[in-house]
Amino acid sequence: MSRIFINYRRQDSEGYVGRLYDHLAQHFQRDDLFMDVDSIPPGADFVQVLEDAVASCDVLIAVIGPGWLNCADDAGERRLHQWNDFVRIEIASALRQNKLVIPVLVGRARMPSPNDLPDELHPLCRRNAVELSHQHFSRDVEKLATAIKSAIPANPSFKGRANSETLRQKEAALKAVRDDLVGATSSPLYTYRIENRHFPVLGEGNPDANILFIGEAPGKNEAATGRPFIGPSGDVLAEMLRGIGLKRDDVYVTNVLLDFPGKRDPLPEELAFYAPFVDRIIDIIQPAVIATLGGFAMSYMLKKLDLPEKRGKISQLHGKLIKTRLPYGEIHVVPLYHPAVVLYSASQKETLRQDFEKLKLFL
Ligand code: URA
Repeated sequence: MSRIFINYRRQDSEGYVGRLYDHLAQHFQRDDLFMDVDSIPPGADFVQVLEDAVASCDVLIAVIGPGWLNCADDAGERRLHQWNDFVRIEIASALRQNKLVIPVLVGRARMPSPNDLPDELHPLCRRNAVELSHQHFSRDVEKLATAIKSAIPANPSFKGRANSETLRQKEAALKAVRDDLVGATSSPLYTYRIENRHFPVLGEGNPDANILFIGEAPGKNEAATGRPFIGPSGDVLAEMLRGIGLKRDDVYVTNVLLDFPGKRDPLPEELAFYAPFVDRIIDIIQPAVIATLGGFAMSYMLKKLDLPEKRGKISQLHGKLIKTRLPYGEIHVVPLYHPAVVLYSASQKETLRQDFEKLKLFL
């Protein structure tokens, strides 16, 4: 469903709208942004088509530029005062349907006065506007995104606080997976685990978490303790979580490999062996968001879910909100850089921090 309808007049604000769209796409999925009703079938009632398009959205952004009020047709008649003007029909329809309508002022435009508008648009003047200035465009769009976010119904897969019985059941189910993992003698990494007195690392955190982080594989520190992300990468992860107001206990953290493979990349047969364990973890926790940490976890998840982005690179996909479904409901996969990559790079760290900010959309 397209959830954010961007209403604008081409002659007035086309340039601004392109920029606005690109900035909003950093906060929302492109599929959720809806700009033009471009195919109205011959014979269709176009007013009805526009009404339906508006009805399918949660928010209408009315972009008002300097020429919005006075744009006129060839005969010099103001478009806004014509009964068949698309801009007018869409805004009036959103107001009638009690949608959230946010006037967005661009190009130093001012809010029009009700005296200048057709009656059905009068309520628009009472809606608090957001101004997008040239100098602070990103910051202003961020403010707009926050307002929109609060109006969009929560992700239906997002769970409220679980009762103690649900938590107990989920904990018991995770313990059963852990027991199977401990006894997984057929694992390609079992001998290495035993010879080195390592622990397997199932994961840890809230068994009913809405956000599940999935990294690559336990390192030496993790194998020595049986806990994921407790070394320097874990410190970065904890710092990023704190930045968005979360603690480790609020989320669940695991990996695509559940044993330390040594200092090397996971092998395909290892990924295949642990995949059913990871599936069980996801199935028990039923997160609304799976945030992958690093390229390995990202490719693993995107391929597993057979998403169109599955051949994409992390440099292109980091910070994107990729919507899909699991048997229990709608989820978003959010690829993030691996915390280890950012340990020594301030700019990468800033990128990771900004990408974590996207997770706030789900909180
Ligand atoms: N790196 C990972 O990918 N996982 C861990 O648990 C620790 C470091």
